[in-house]
Amino acid sequence: MALLDDSKLLISPGSLVVVTGANGFIATHILDQLLQRGYRVRGTVRSVSKNQWVKDYFEKHYGPGKIELVEVPDMTVDGVYDDIVKGASGFVHVAAPLMSSPDPHTTIPLIVDSTLRVLEAAAKEPGMKRVVLTSSSGSCVVPTPNKVFTIDSNMWNEDAVKAAYGPPSDNIFQQLGTVYAASKTKGEQAAWQWMREHKPPFALNTIIPNANLGPPFDKAHQGSRSTLNWIGITLEKGETVSPHDLPGFIPQHYVDVRDCAALHVAALIYPDVNGERLFAFAAPFAWNDFLRVFKKTFPDRKFSEEISDQSKDLSKVTNERAEELVKRLTGHGWKSLQDAVGDAAKAMDA
Ligand SMILES: NC(=O)c1ccc[n+]([C@@H]2O[C@H](COP(=O)([O-])OP(=O)(O)OC[C@H]3O[C@@H](n4cnc5c(N)ncnc54)[C@H](OP(=O)(O)O)[C@@H]3O)[C@@H](O)[C@H]2O)c1
Repeated sequence: MALLDDSKLLISPGSLVVVTGANGFIATHILDQLLQRGYRVRGTVRSVSKNQWVKDYFEKHYGPGKIELVEVPDMTVDGVYDDIVKGASGFVHVAAPLMSSPDPHTTIPLIVDSTLRVLEAAAKEPGMKRVVLTSSSGSCVVPTPNKVFTIDSNMWNEDAVKAAYGPPSDNIFQQLGTVYAASKTKGEQAAWQWMREHKPPFALNTIIPNANLGPPFDKAHQGSRSTLNWIGITLEKGETVSPHDLPGFIPQHYVDVRDCAALHVAALIYPDVNGERLFAFAAPFAWNDFLRVFKKTFPDRKFSEEISDQSKDLSKVTNERAEELVKRLTGHGWKSLQDAVGDAAKAMDA
């Protein structure tokens, strides 16, 4: 791990950072990287008793007094973070449901309102220096295989917003994806609009990740969360697995969850990252690439045959700035798909 030069940081090690959804796949990696670098963390969870393992795990690795968990059963309530933010220098808002409801009238307000509660609370803490919001590739675009196009920071997924409020799709998976993308679009837009209207003393950066792949900290608690279920299903089905078994698996870009977490930390602590949308997209991948990692990682096991007519993600994304920040913080560029999926598969198989 590259050492941090305190004099060049906006937020120094030892400072307190609030992270929402602290038990989630990406958030636990953010916690790990903050704690590794000497920051203190106040994590919010919907239930402290159910998520005690998070505190236990990180206390075991980094010692007592570095992490606390606070219960936030409803992240949309007015003033919900007002006490939680006290004494904090940074706020990373990660929590969001992933494709869990087909109803735009509940999902979109949940994401918008919870994002505004974070910014409102941050503005009440005089020591607040930076807010980082986990957005999604869905705020710009939905993966569209075999089409050549560019993804940049001026892009917004207005199509998903229109479709979400239109007649619901008969395909439940498509409906969930559309509503999720619309919620992340409206949530991120609301954050930037709030910043323009209120001009607080802190800056906002947003992280726009595509598919996160990588190891969980705790297989029992995290193994079926988020994209980790792709790994679990592939291990379980082995010889018979097909891309149709993996919910949401289509050619798109991957990012190693550890790089995604590093990008969140860089966006939080580097003074020159000020008001940016940062793309956590490493490289495109498709089914055969994913499958090859399993075959290489477990050479003695059988996995299904490659498919001959697979489609590809041909989009080009402006991810150079994000990779520069990951490199600055970690000393390396984007981790490979082999690292991301291979480490995830080994952890899920243990
Ligand atoms: N994984 C990806 O590939 C990916 C890609 C792009 C963007 N993202 C974004 O990254 C963030 C984290 O995702 P993840 O992959 O780490 O998923 P995850 O493991 O499912 O974590 C989601 C977190 O959000 C919390 N949450 C869900 N619904 C909530 C609600 N209604 N109220 C309060 N908290 C709620 C969860 O708490 P509970 O345990 O209580 O449900 C959990 O802490 C999300 O903002 C997601 O949109 C993820």
